[in-house]
Amino acid sequence: MNPLKHVAIIMDGNGRWGLKNKKSRNAGHKEGLNTVEKIIKTSIKNKIKYLTLYAFSTENWKRPKKEINFLFDLLENFLVNRIDELHEKNIKLKIIGVKNFSTKLNKLLNYSEKKTIKNTKLQINLALNYGSKFELINAFKSLNKNKENINEKNLSKYLQTNNIPDPDLLIRTGNTKRLSNFLLWQLAYSEIFFEKKLWPEFSEKDYNRIIKKFKNIKRNYGNI
Ligand code: IPE
Ligand code: IPE
Ligand code: MG
Repeated sequence: MNPLKHVAIIMDGNGRWGLKNKKSRNAGHKEGLNTVEKIIKTSIKNKIKYLTLYAFSTENWKRPKKEINFLFDLLENFLVNRIDELHEKNIKLKIIGVKNFSTKLNKLLNYSEKKTIKNTKLQINLALNYGSKFELINAFKSLNKNKENINEKNLSKYLQTNNIPDPDLLIRTGNTKRLSNFLLWQLAYSEIFFEKKLWPEFSEKDYNRIIKKFKNIKRNYGNI
């Protein structure tokens, strides 16, 4: 049975769920937050150590302002109301991506990371304004600036996932089979599951089914 340390998730399908069920994309984002809570709980039950959640890509700025503002308000409210609880549950929050939001949100994100930095049960990497190509370009720039050799170890050190093992498992909900600029380097050997269900419909049972399947996959890494 494969050990499972790190799960990465592209939480896709909120907008379609919202339009279909509540006539509003934003209602889908709100509903999607319930799935996030369920998945955090289930990750802990499964003794997963790292959970990386793709919440907002560098490309998502193309969306209408109304939707972008709604998403960040949702995040702000979530952190204000729930960071103490996450802390009590021994959960560490880390942001990957560029924190160039409102001063208020940047402060809140920094505060949340600092408060939970020593926690050890589960590390949640929240990908916010994250783009893998941008991350890689910056890493190469740092190698160049510091005149370091270009090799896997040195490059990984300058990624935002420095010190985090690569994801064992990637799940994308929402019935689309693409990576959308997410962890292109880190996913080199991850097992990938594309799910038909939209993120708000994705259940603990679905997650456990994927984990069970993952555990029985023969991971070759080029070997036989
Ligand atoms: C959520 O799903 C992902 C975010 C960018 C917040 P979407 O909002 O992309 O939902 P669909 O794909 O349009 O249904
Ligand atoms: C990927 O979903 C980004 C997040 C889940 C945050 P998108 O819905 O933005 O991806 P594309 O644009 O359909 O590839
Ligand atoms: Mg989408």
